[in-house]
Parts: sequence; C-alpha cells; structure tokens
Amino acid sequence: MPLPPYRIKVVEPIPFLSPAERNAALAAAGYNPFNLRADQITIDLLSDSGTGATSAAQEAAAAVGDESYAGARSWFRFRDEVADLTGFPHVLPVHQGRAGERILFSTLLRPGQICVSNTHFDTTHANVELAGAEARDLPCPEALDLDSHEPFKGNIDVAALSGLLAGPEGGRVGLVLMTITNNGLGAQPVSMANLAAVHALCREHGVPFFLDAARFAENAWYVREREPGYADWTPRAIARQAFDLADGCVISLKKDGLASIGGCLGLRDDGLYARCEALLIATEGFSTYGGLAGHDLERLAVGLREVVDPAYLGARAAATAHLARRINDAGVDIVQPAGMHALYLNAGRLLPHLSPAEFPGHSLGCQLYLDGGVRCAELGSLYLGTMDEQHRLVTAAPFELVRLAIPRRVYSQEHFEYVAETLAGIAKDPERITGYRIVSTPPILRHFKVRLEPIRP
Ligand code: F0G
Repeated sequence: MPLPPYRIKVVEPIPFLSPAERNAALAAAGYNPFNLRADQITIDLLSDSGTGATSAAQEAAAAVGDESYAGARSWFRFRDEVADLTGFPHVLPVHQGRAGERILFSTLLRPGQICVSNTHFDTTHANVELAGAEARDLPCPEALDLDSHEPFKGNIDVAALSGLLAGPEGGRVGLVLMTITNNGLGAQPVSMANLAAVHALCREHGVPFFLDAARFAENAWYVREREPGYADWTPRAIARQAFDLADGCVISLKKDGLASIGGCLGLRDDGLYARCEALLIATEGFSTYGGLAGHDLERLAVGLREVVDPAYLGARAAATAHLARRINDAGVDIVQPAGMHALYLNAGRLLPHLSPAEFPGHSLGCQLYLDGGVRCAELGSLYLGTMDEQHRLVTAAPFELVRLAIPRRVYSQEHFEYVAETLAGIAKDPERITGYRIVSTPPILRHFKVRLEPIRP
C-alpha cells in the first residue's frame, strides 16, 4: 500500500461520548447530524470541504501573509500559482466556491437560459436557479448502475448534449459546466475524451464551456490511472490539459486547494472578466483578496503545489480504496468504483425493510452516529425527494445513499478500521434500525435544517 508522503506534527484531540450521551445529543439535534456540535463527534465524515490538514510549509507561508488591503504580495503569489496551474489569464479570488458560482452565473446566464452539466452540485444548482436559469443534468447512462465498474461514470452523456444543442432548445443553452470529479454522482471521474467532446460541441454551437474544478487533482489522478495514454503524465499536466479545453473555471479551493477556505474564478474573456470583477468588488471584497485574508492566499498557493504530488494522490486513492474494501467485506455495498474524496453507501440495499418514505439513508447515517460517533450525510429521499405540505414523501430519490466524505491528510488507517467495524456491527442486524419521520422543515435547502424523529423509538 503506498505510504502517505508526510508524517504528523500537530494533533487535535477527538471526543469519545458514551452511547447514552450520543443518544441524547442526536435527539437534541432533532435527529439531524448537521445540528450536532463538533465536540460530540468522534469521526467526522460530513464533508471533505475545508476539513483537511495543512502542511508545515503552508503554515510557514501563512506567517508571511501580507494583509495589505490592495495589491498584497500574497495575492500575487496566489494569482501566479493559479495562472501557472490553469493557464487562465484572468484570476479572481473568492471566499469559497459558491461565491464564485453566484458571480459567474449572475454575469453570464440570462433568465430562461439553460445551464447543462454532468451533475450540478447542490449550491451550483441553487445559484443557477437564483440567476433565473434552469440547471439541467445529463449524466452518462453508466452512472445510473451503482454496481458497474466503468472507469469514468462521471462523464456527461455526449449524445444527449449534442441532441440538446442541435434541437429546439439549443438556442437557450447559455453554459455547459462539467463537474470534475462528479460529487453529486458518486465522486466519479470524468475522462479527458469526454471533456474534449464537450469542448468540440461547445465550440461548434458557440456555447461557453466551464469546469467546476473543486477536485481537479483527484480527477487528474484517475485519468492517469484509467485512461489510455496518460500513464506517464504528471497529474499537474493532466489537470492543465483539462483547463486548456475550457473557457473558464470556478473552483472551491476548500477541497484540492488543501486549505480551510478559498475559491477562485479563472477566465479567458476580457469582457466577462471586467463584469465579474465589478460584481466581486461590490460583494466579496477588492479583486486582490476577494474575501480572503493574505494568510489564506499563502496557504492556497502552497496547497495547489502539494495537491498534485503523485505520491500524495496515490496514497489518498489507496487509503479510500482500502476503506471501500473493508466496508464491502462487512457486507455493505458502495457505489462502484470507490471514489477518492468520498464513498457512497447503498443504504437502500442494506435496509430493504425501510421504504424511501422512512429515509433509509438518513437512518443509516443516524445509526453510524449512535453506534460509533461517526457523522456523515444522507444523499437520498430526505435530500432529493419531493414532499407534500404534511412533509410526506411524494417522489422518492433514484437511490438511497449515504456519503462518507474523507477529509484530506486527517484520519489514519486505524480511524478507517473503526468506521468499517462500526458499519459491520450495523450490517449484522440491520432489521433493528428504525426509519424516521419529519417533524419540521425549512422552505429551501431542507437537509441542512430539517428536524426528525424515529418512527420506532
Ligand atoms: N462544486 C462542487 C463540486 C462541490 O463539491 C462544492 C462543495 C461546491 C461546488 C461549492 O463550494 O462549499 O466552497 O462553496 N462541496 C462541499 C461538499 C460542501 O461537502 O461536497 P463551496
């Protein structure tokens, strides 16, 4: 198994609560793990976003962060690093990915237009719709077979995209946005061939082509491992080829930026850049900091170099794949092949005694917390289903999944063993697990603030 190319220098204690304390904590949180306090959680797999560990080199750089309001040294270091990595002549900093989405979509998209994607992430979807446009997903058909081992299940359906662009709605397509890797559909990568096909179609029809490149380095690793012709390429060169195909990008740097906050836009078009810059200054901060501190920009400039290290990416891929095997051995199916930043448990299959209306994914997530203090997120009917006014499920999600997101450089093999053992305990007697019903729910972005109760206490 490849060794991680680092050792640990600074550590942080993690809490261990008794089963009774966890029961009380989850009840007080309205049975929604988003409402738990971090000091009630033993292993936090809620998100890989902003949760990674920084390196000694990043902290050393942060110490010389320049906090000047405009034109700080740290800005130029960050800008040069992003420009060198991506090749985009214009770079705008933002405090996180969704701020970049809001600025880009409200500048580029007109009401009534369509933004097409392999799969929009949830905030991306929301920001497209806030701009008055429609977010339309065209995932490739292989993505819908959770068990298939196809190498690039993150791809867009090129035939469907081509049909849309050439058809009666073609004139309404204002943007094609490819999410690499495809977080909304099992953390699956996108092939370079797929990106090249999208590039060609967008050129032919005069539609802008952007990347949502939150996990650009992880996608590049899978291209190197799985796509013929790339075995000798560096992950950095592969990422650059992807950026070269696009007209621009929006990146949440809380993932492959290896820092706790940050994001950016990369643009080629001078006019679009000028309009985005004006909106950035009005809403995020001056265009040489964009809501970030100088020390954040410094950590990111170093993180963007560290993240494309093949030794780091290889060790991360191997660690997640090992956890995936241990979970499979325990009798729990995951979306195949295993992703790098997250594993998606097939809760619907593990808990067939629960109907989608009883939220099996949510039940499994709650049980992981009750049995082991492990926090994760449901991706099933609670998140994606439609409800009536009494909060009863009307349309179920296509799958009942639970995402175990893997923070970068944070947990060891022993922590992963613990997670696998907790799951194995659940898989031995899944029938004991109860479903949940909704008690109250906010009008939008339900999964963050919904409160529930167990059907069978
Ligand atoms: N795009 C993708 C593909 C993402 O996964 C995320 C965030 C964003 C955009 C938004 O970026 O959080 O910096 O504003 N994903 C996190 C997650 C929250 O847990 O998957 P942000």
